[in-house]
Amino acid sequence: MSNTRKILITSALPYANGPIHLGHLVEYIQTDIWARFQKMRGHECYYVCADDAHGTPIMLRAQAEGIAPEDLIARISEEHQTDFAGFNINFDFYHSTNSPENKHFASYIYTQLKEQNHISRKTIKQFYDPEKKMFLPDRFIKGTCPKCKTEDQYGDNCEACGATYSPTDLLNPKSAVSGATPIEKETDHLFFELSHFEDMLKGWTHQGHLQTQIANKLDEWFESGLRAWDISRDAPYFGFEIPGETDKFFYVWLDAPVGYMASFKALCDKTGLDFDEFWKADSTTELYHFIGKDIIYFHALFWPAMLSGAGFRTPNAIFSHGFLTVDGQKMSKSRGTFIMAKTYLDHLNPEYLRYYFAAKLNSRIDDIDLSLEDFAQRVNSDLVGKVVNIASRCAGFVVKKFDGKLSQAWSDSASTLYQSFLDKSETIANLYEQREYAQAMREIMALADKANEYIDETAPWVLAKQEGKEAELYESVSLGINLFRVLITYLAPVIPTTAEKAQDFLQIKTLNWTDINTPLKDHEITKFKALMTRVEMDAIEKMTDASKQDMKKMPPMKPEIKDETSNLNPIADEITFDDFAKVDFRIAKIVNAEQVPEADKLIKLTLDIGVGERQVFAGIKSAYKPEDLIGKLTVMVANLKPRKMRFGLSEGMVLAAGPGGEDLFLLNPDEGAQPGMRVK
Ligand code: 2FM
Ligand code: ZN
Repeated sequence: MSNTRKILITSALPYANGPIHLGHLVEYIQTDIWARFQKMRGHECYYVCADDAHGTPIMLRAQAEGIAPEDLIARISEEHQTDFAGFNINFDFYHSTNSPENKHFASYIYTQLKEQNHISRKTIKQFYDPEKKMFLPDRFIKGTCPKCKTEDQYGDNCEACGATYSPTDLLNPKSAVSGATPIEKETDHLFFELSHFEDMLKGWTHQGHLQTQIANKLDEWFESGLRAWDISRDAPYFGFEIPGETDKFFYVWLDAPVGYMASFKALCDKTGLDFDEFWKADSTTELYHFIGKDIIYFHALFWPAMLSGAGFRTPNAIFSHGFLTVDGQKMSKSRGTFIMAKTYLDHLNPEYLRYYFAAKLNSRIDDIDLSLEDFAQRVNSDLVGKVVNIASRCAGFVVKKFDGKLSQAWSDSASTLYQSFLDKSETIANLYEQREYAQAMREIMALADKANEYIDETAPWVLAKQEGKEAELYESVSLGINLFRVLITYLAPVIPTTAEKAQDFLQIKTLNWTDINTPLKDHEITKFKALMTRVEMDAIEKMTDASKQDMKKMPPMKPEIKDETSNLNPIADEITFDDFAKVDFRIAKIVNAEQVPEADKLIKLTLDIGVGERQVFAGIKSAYKPEDLIGKLTVMVANLKPRKMRFGLSEGMVLAAGPGGEDLFLLNPDEGAQPGMRVK
């Protein structure tokens, strides 16, 4: 292909201190689909990853197990790779951040940044465990929440009331490592001066490398100022020693993204690929990082700054995704919805989950929900009931009646139907390219419906019993098989194992995107074997039961880092029922909505609440066009004391929910509601 692209793709590196679970798999499946798609399109594409192997938790866990950290991370790496292989995640290279390549690049980048005066040294005060003789990260300090007084809370936030604080605010702090009372101790740390890159980053974050929701979030960070980033940790620490320092190590998050380079370098060394072509400052190759929205800060600020400061290229895009919920809720250990990759694989086919995630994923950062019943229903109806069914309805006739050979001649109507399937090729390809997988799956299933309708109409099982209908029968089943081939080609990035089985059945050598331009005519296929069986609810139940058992064996988990991008603010101070009863919520009809040109976020609403009209300035401009709001019903707080704003008087509030940006939803009562009704 003349316009072959050279593409390097990564997923975030999983920590080497715990197993892969379904939450992780959203990302690996999303990325793997993209990488497989690019390869099928004929592009030169590499997908690399590695274990994120450094840091205090890994060091302490190895100590607790009485083994060297190197042995722990080797074991976990094996487990991770087995899980990934089980889900058909097809890495071109899987490495470790505890590798010579990573040490080289982390040190090189640091040295470059230091030479250009982007590294500073500051004395900080940190909690120190006098028994263990080590500085304590926030999550290794426990104590009583200064706000709600719940005991046994971590040093960064309270799980009971949601308050965030620094460890020095905790009452009665204790080291979670030894139980000793920590002391505050001074130490020198090295900092990366992120603010030196402010201009570069402000430009970069608005050049189409990030999703809109993310770019907006970054603007908030710019507004609050870019703080220097603490990149060193004192011994004892499992990581790389910082060149030119004694007993100082790179903070795990410094060398983690460098692991992307390291893994690719190892691939280059193995295969003879040119590393520099992909990483030099003026590279024309493409680089994409798939990550979860919780680690945006590292990838959209620190990482591009580090790369550009050290003379490397920056990524073409960072693709963030949301978190996984199961049955509408956070994965839960007690409900058995905290499901390990391995436990899933003990009970269910990985292709089911790949398809289900694909059917849910889009290019935005919304969380995605795995509803277990919907999962079974969707896979059974789409993959088994629609797609695989086409082949099973036709194959028997081809083998029994026509010696396994597909027909040579096609009628015009057959060619037209086939062509209508090909006509969707670029639409579907674009949807994959844009990571709009859910939409792509809908397009493909619409074609599957069309293929099944064709088979229903031509009814080969009827034709087979009639005299003189051979030619019609032959065309029906041969075309059916060809339509199936198109569908399986479109689905191959999502369900690669099923596609491979289909390839065997169809006896075709390759499954490239453009192969379908040549239909299979006068072509021999083999006997059809079931490509996929139905999902049984029973297997799902067994899996959730097993997950409950898994959890009893697992140590409690805690995220390694604070969620710096979280949109969830801590719950505000309690109010009494009487306070609540004072709020007068009313149904309001939006009778007019206007732009407020001077304000970035506001729309001016005129609301009819039965007893008269109210004017409200609502911060919903990012999510709604004024003209779309007129005539709609919403809910307002009608007795809020009017506030004088720069643009006029605001006489209440409308209720909306959502993370912000385009995702802000006005509360919207049902049609039967009348302006002025009280809302209880
Ligand atoms: O959040 C995490 O799980 C990290 N281990 C991801 C690292 S991604 C990259 F920077 F290495
Ligand atoms: Zn609390």
